[in-house]
Amino acid sequence: MALPNTLTVPQFEARKGNLPLVVVTAYDAPQGRLADAAGADAILVGDSLGMTTLGYDSTLPVTVADMVLHTRAVSRGQQARAIEKNSVEDAARGARHALLIADLPFGGYGVTIEDGVRAAVDLIQAGAQAVKVEGAGEITLATIRRLIDIGIPVMGHIGMTPQSVNRFGGFKVQGKSEEAAESVLRAANAIVEAGVFSMVLEVIPATLAARITEAVPTPTIGIGAGPFCDGQVQVLHDLIGLTDGPTLRHAKRYADIGSSLRDAVSAYAADVRARRFPTEENSF
Ligand code: KIV
Repeated sequence: MALPNTLTVPQFEARKGNLPLVVVTAYDAPQGRLADAAGADAILVGDSLGMTTLGYDSTLPVTVADMVLHTRAVSRGQQARAIEKNSVEDAARGARHALLIADLPFGGYGVTIEDGVRAAVDLIQAGAQAVKVEGAGEITLATIRRLIDIGIPVMGHIGMTPQSVNRFGGFKVQGKSEEAAESVLRAANAIVEAGVFSMVLEVIPATLAARITEAVPTPTIGIGAGPFCDGQVQVLHDLIGLTDGPTLRHAKRYADIGSSLRDAVSAYAADVRARRFPTEENSF
C-alpha cells in the first residue's frame, strides 16, 4: 500500500514535458530509505539486482520470489523513512515519497498471461505501486491490458531490453539502422496502445529517443538514451561506485562507496589485529 504523500501514477504521467523525472533503482531497505529521503520521484526495484546484488552476470536467473523479497525490503525502507522524526518536517515542507515500481522478471511474464498477472499481484502485495515489463511481444501486450483491467499500472521498457540479451547477442545499442529504429518506434506505440503509463528507453540513439518522446503521450525515462527524454533512470550501484570495472558510458559516478567500504573493513581488521578494538567504551 502506498505511503501518504506518495507521488501517484497520474502525477508521474502529468510530468511529461515538465520537470524531468528522477528514477533510481534500490534493492534493500536502507537503499529504499535513503533513495526516498534523497527525493527520487520513483524507485525501481530492478531485476538488475541479479547483477548488483546476487552476483549473476545477467538478469535472466532472477525469479519472481527474488523480486518479491527485494520489493518488500525496499518498501519497508520507505516505511522506515516515513516514521523517522525528520520525515514529519519533510511532510511539513511538502516532501514526497517516491512511487515504488518493481520489475517483472524473465519467465515470470510473457509466457502466459496468467503467470504475468499472478507475479504482478505478488509484487503489488509486496509493496509496489506499479510493475515494469520489457518488450512488446503478443503475450506481454495482452498481459499489460489485463493488469490495467485489474488496477495495476504498468511501465514499459523498450530498446536494449536486458532480458533479451541472448537474442541481441550482448548488451548492444538498439535501433541504430532506420529499420531497427522503426521497429523500436512500433514497440513504443504498441505498449502505449496497451496502456502503459510510462516507458523506459534503454541504450538507443538519442535522436530516436527524442522521436519517441515527441510521438508518445506518456513520459519516456531514458538510460543510455540521451538528454531528450522526460526523465532518467540509473542503477544505484553505478551512481555510488559499487560496481566492478570502469564506469559505463551511460552512467555517472557520484560517489565511491566501493572504496569506502573496502577501507572501512581493512581499518577494522587492522584495529582488531592490533587490539585497538574493542575498547572499554565498546565493552559491557
Ligand atoms: O533492472 C533495472 O535496473 C532496469 C533499469 C536499468 C531500467 O530495468
